[in-house]
Amino acid sequence: MKTPAATHVHTLLASYPDFPQPGILFQDLNPVFANAAAFRSIIDELSDQHFGQFDAVAGIEARGFLLAAAVGYAANVPVLAVRKGGKLPGTVLAEEYDLEYGSARLELEIGQLEPGTRVLVVDDVLATGGTIAATARLIERAGYRLSGVGVVLELTGLEGRSRLGDSAVHAIISI
Ligand code: PRP
Repeated sequence: MKTPAATHVHTLLASYPDFPQPGILFQDLNPVFANAAAFRSIIDELSDQHFGQFDAVAGIEARGFLLAAAVGYAANVPVLAVRKGGKLPGTVLAEEYDLEYGSARLELEIGQLEPGTRVLVVDDVLATGGTIAATARLIERAGYRLSGVGVVLELTGLEGRSRLGDSAVHAIISI
């Protein structure tokens, strides 16, 4: 049986062929985020402790920030921002990763939370898994523990889950 959030996402998700480049079928979650009931249901589901407890939530730039901010508020836990390269000051950890199209770099500031903090990572889409795998490495290198991963949409054809090792992954919908 579909959860309320899954029903909303299936109804509102918009697909755009050949964006941002030929051969890519872009899945646009903005219509989902723009619907208040849908967004609330997503946050409720991601905040639920599917994989045991978490003490903090990390969002991945850019759309992961929308989710992490709301999950942090709902679960009353601190929020970490995992940013694209070159945006953060001070001492940062960096991880390079491959995207479905292109490559990129993610960074995390060190020393924001206590060592051993259990961190839930949230993002909008799990595609090849490169983004979340790089984030998981940053979380571990910063001295935290990855409690699990929550995404709105998993694209199963790209087998991203297989790049995340033993991490517990909760997807609101998988297509
Ligand atoms: C998209 C999406 C995920 C990532 C998933 O972000 O928001 O973060 O790709 O892809 P992967 O599983 O193949 O790594 P994108 O890099 O396009 O950045 P943006 O959201 O900041 O535009």
